[in-house]
Amino acid sequence: MSEEGRLSPETIASLRTELLERHPDLEGERVRLFSASGRINLLGEHTDYSDGFCLPAATNRRVAGAFASAPDERPRIVVHSRRFASDADFCLEEIPELPPGDWRRYVASTAKVLRVEAARRGVPLAGMRGVIDSDIPVGSGLSSSAALELLILNAWSRLSGVELSPRELALLGQKAEWEYGVQCGILDQLAIVNGRKGEVSLVDCRTLEATPIRIALNGFCFLIGFTKERSLVASEYNARREECRRAAEVLRDASGRKDIRALRDADPELVARYAAELEAVGAREGMKLLPRAEHVVNENARVHRAVDALQRGDVAAFGALMLETHRSLAEKFEVSSPELDAMVDAVLAFSARSGTPSWARMMGGGFGGPVLILAPADAAETLMERVGELYRRATMSEGRFWTVEIEDGLQELG
Ligand code: GLA
Repeated sequence: MSEEGRLSPETIASLRTELLERHPDLEGERVRLFSASGRINLLGEHTDYSDGFCLPAATNRRVAGAFASAPDERPRIVVHSRRFASDADFCLEEIPELPPGDWRRYVASTAKVLRVEAARRGVPLAGMRGVIDSDIPVGSGLSSSAALELLILNAWSRLSGVELSPRELALLGQKAEWEYGVQCGILDQLAIVNGRKGEVSLVDCRTLEATPIRIALNGFCFLIGFTKERSLVASEYNARREECRRAAEVLRDASGRKDIRALRDADPELVARYAAELEAVGAREGMKLLPRAEHVVNENARVHRAVDALQRGDVAAFGALMLETHRSLAEKFEVSSPELDAMVDAVLAFSARSGTPSWARMMGGGFGGPVLILAPADAAETLMERVGELYRRATMSEGRFWTVEIEDGLQELG
């Protein structure tokens, strides 16, 4: 397992030193250290924006920063990123428009939503200086963007005395992402704000309630197999979201059930009953409504089966659900990629050949990025090596692997 590039306690402590070197006028005792984690999602993919269920957790990969408020006359934010070797530097009154793909656009989007929220509450935002570093691989599908937005929101609101509950933080984080340009659901943000060491959260994306679930992995662990960098393909993502919205509308009209506000309110029987209507409207409007709806209703049901399996400590039953989810995302929701399929196949081939029980599925928005792997902890090293070989042969490209631990999602480190 490669520990290369990990944020060690020394690296995190050095953020404080660097902040004081960059801004000698700051008082050392005002500096506070915060972090926000990258997330995994055990199951419940592409269900959040249909008000459905998911099962995320926060990981030990995170973005961390040293921050201090500054007594600016016109509040200014200056955040230096070590990873990108550049500064987000602007006045709160004049937040710049930055191009998509520029990390500073996330800081600007976050500043915009926090500015509105602070004004609504009548609390002035302080100027802020920060230095940040991260060991969440960019484009990895662990939601490095949500982590960055929540880090800034959490640090800045605390330094300014804007009191935000975890739920309010999550909703503001989502707004920042929308401001950035992706109409994401609330999975990533709720995963981070509710993340607790050793726990996953059963999240209801309608009520935003998160129920902590203690899981018994019985010697198994989660790994990430990383296929290739991707950016969330915003247009495809937004199109899936629209198909789900439209499918719910068709089900409501066809069944006369006024209570259907989103696919969350439908179930597999209802979708089967109105399959012809979904097909017809989809064909007319150039969308694929039936398979999208099938994925979402089955996936919601799978989340509840997964909770049962995990609480019973039945790792094999949970693993089988991961495979079902992968097939459904690939065939019905069409968000997989040849590399993601190759990685999942490589895990299954390794499992069959070595007799090591292991399972995998694509995770996150899709179109590239990570595969979540479940395997015995004592076979993790061998798996990474063998699956790496199989993946290389199948795709002529290098996969990267690491094990993940489940940690607190938002932390104040000192
Ligand atoms: C991305 C989005 C989330 C969620 C997942 C798919 O990570 O940011 O809101 O929709 O895709 O489950």
